[in-house]
Amino acid sequence: MSLIVRGGRILDANAHADSGRPADLRVADGLITHVVEPGRELPAADQELDASDCVVTSGFVDLHVHLREPGREESETIETGSRAAAKGGFTAVIAMPNTEPPHDSRIVVDFVREQGRRAGLCEVVPSGCITMDRAGERLAPFAELQAAGVHLFTDDGSGVQDAQLMRRALEYSRDLGVTLAQHCEVVSLTVGAVMHEGSCCSRLGLPGWPALAEELMVHRDIELCRLTGAGMHFLHLSTARSVELVRAAKADGLAITAEVAPHHFSLTDELLSGFDPVFKVNPPLRTPADIAALKEGLADGTIDAIATDHAPHAERLKEQPLDQAPPGMLGLETALGVSLTELVDTGLMTLRQVVAALSWNPARIARLADRHGRPVSVGEPANLTVFDPTATWEVDPSTLASRSRNTPYRGRVLRGRVRHTIYEGVAVVVDGEAIQ
Ligand code: DOR
Repeated sequence: MSLIVRGGRILDANAHADSGRPADLRVADGLITHVVEPGRELPAADQELDASDCVVTSGFVDLHVHLREPGREESETIETGSRAAAKGGFTAVIAMPNTEPPHDSRIVVDFVREQGRRAGLCEVVPSGCITMDRAGERLAPFAELQAAGVHLFTDDGSGVQDAQLMRRALEYSRDLGVTLAQHCEVVSLTVGAVMHEGSCCSRLGLPGWPALAEELMVHRDIELCRLTGAGMHFLHLSTARSVELVRAAKADGLAITAEVAPHHFSLTDELLSGFDPVFKVNPPLRTPADIAALKEGLADGTIDAIATDHAPHAERLKEQPLDQAPPGMLGLETALGVSLTELVDTGLMTLRQVVAALSWNPARIARLADRHGRPVSVGEPANLTVFDPTATWEVDPSTLASRSRNTPYRGRVLRGRVRHTIYEGVAVVVDGEAIQ
């Protein structure tokens, strides 16, 4: 299988100029075989992809997706989620462990990986649970899961509440050389909460999720990292103070990384005024001041990665009253458009900075940098995304590849769209459509 990508501009980890460098490239048997000046002759190939007006970059890596299989296939399957990922330009996704059963045994992580292989649209990399059954009581078998190819451990959906257990998990992860990723939420502060605790929530008379519930755990874990010498990753940060805490920890030299989800830097708690569960998410949508701080954190490198927290929920579930509907929103197919619209169009970040946060930074955090987020050069694995940074499109839930419809961006016009995605040398998305 060989293909040529013609007419684009390469923007990769080695690029200096933000506009990228014009080049054509050829891929064969999973590897990049040629990168040449535009229009130069290339050996024939089975397929040719038009990349005019497009950026050609290393594929995106999503540190945070819920694919629902096994157990809740009504909302998503590994195949439908992989298709949504490929359409969003992702060549690798980290599958969160809150499935039924959860990712606390070898048999489940092997199953998830294998289903990903079967779908063949992107690399589905299972995370492992920090604790058995994500119950926060006993550590999961890290070494056994690591032997099965797990490099990132999290109880996402919940945070590890017990500080002593978290200390042991950090020591263990430090010694094994795996990444620990925390969902920061002190649950005693969020019982019954449906939205951000603030003036909007008081006006609506709804139980609130205070910023402090996140920040207390961020603070505790930073101090546990200082104590143990371990590093860790913070999932879906949502508040201004969390960004400040991470900025200070990094300045102290701690090996901390952090991610933010597109919905947290583009949507505010005011959207809950209509009581529409599509805007319910955990952690919740926050205030304009939090949004400004999250964007600032991305722009100055305090936040390393943009991760979607893609959380599909079947219509039947999401259409329940606000207090009963599950939290979560789709993210894979809109991540690039929301990021470019909110961060690049506004002049806050360069295109290269945003691509770094979507590709090579998360590849490094997930320990996938041997095959994702690589330079676009000869001999490298062909995991690539070709996107048009200026194309505008309107989000229509009925056209999404996900099995669920819970996008908070219905009707929004976004700028920036994926044209082709190449995974292991195969064009799995061509002209915006998945091939299978
Ligand atoms: O909104 C969320 N949905 N946050 C989480 O942490 C879990 C996720 C889910 O699994 O639906």
